[in-house]
Amino acid sequence: MRLTLAETEAHRREVLALFLDTFSDIAPTAVPMPHVDHLYRPAIAQVRDDTGALVASALTCVPQKAAGVALLPPQMRPQGLSRAAERVSELDLVAVQPDRRGQGVGQKMIEFLESVLVSRGVRTWFGCATPDLDVAALRHFYARAGFKVLTEGQPLPPLGGQNWSVPFAEAPAFYFWKKLRAAH
Ligand SMILES: CC(C)(COP(=O)(O)OP(=O)(O)OC[C@H]1O[C@@H](n2cnc3c(N)ncnc32)[C@H](O)[C@@H]1OP(=O)(O)O)[C@@H](O)C(=O)NCCC(=O)NCCS
Repeated sequence: MRLTLAETEAHRREVLALFLDTFSDIAPTAVPMPHVDHLYRPAIAQVRDDTGALVASALTCVPQKAAGVALLPPQMRPQGLSRAAERVSELDLVAVQPDRRGQGVGQKMIEFLESVLVSRGVRTWFGCATPDLDVAALRHFYARAGFKVLTEGQPLPPLGGQNWSVPFAEAPAFYFWKKLRAAH
């Protein structure tokens, strides 16, 4: 199996297809274009088997809140948010093909993306899980990957001096976050 960053439009489409198969409620625009999208600056891990078939993928990018604010005229943008977003990333989507789960693939993608984020100067990584997923298993998964896993209803603390929570129609089941080491 090979673990790389998705870099082409063909990769992006395959990753999107995996996420659409895995999650019932995501938009067809959920996967930004790698290298081209400077608003979301995504890092998209992809795991492929020896035949080149996609086994798993994980997407992390500029937090939704900062990307949304970037659409406002400069004088209306909250001060500091865009600057803080240079050092914070939101783990947005993680999916492993059902027949490949429980074999360490998800953990390897988290480790890989963490090293990519460190090399980009990101210092804090966070995400949340929605209640429609297997919440107990995901708590275990993220804790094992070294995240602080918050209790149900516990708000994300300010990270990099900013509040990154976004108003969801439905509250997340839990948030998770971790500090990353500084790049050498
Ligand atoms: C969650 C998910 C990405 C984990 O990937 P994975 O490759 O199955 O996870 P790993 O094999 O690296 O498992 C690491 C740990 O998480 C646990 N785990 C969590 N969810 C699991 C699941 N659904 N199936 C199997 N193991 C799971 C494992 O027991 C393992 O713990 P252990 O090593 O102490 O036994 C994957 O199961 C998946 O795609 N689930 C559906 C989509 C989803 O919920 N994504 C997360 C959105 S927030």
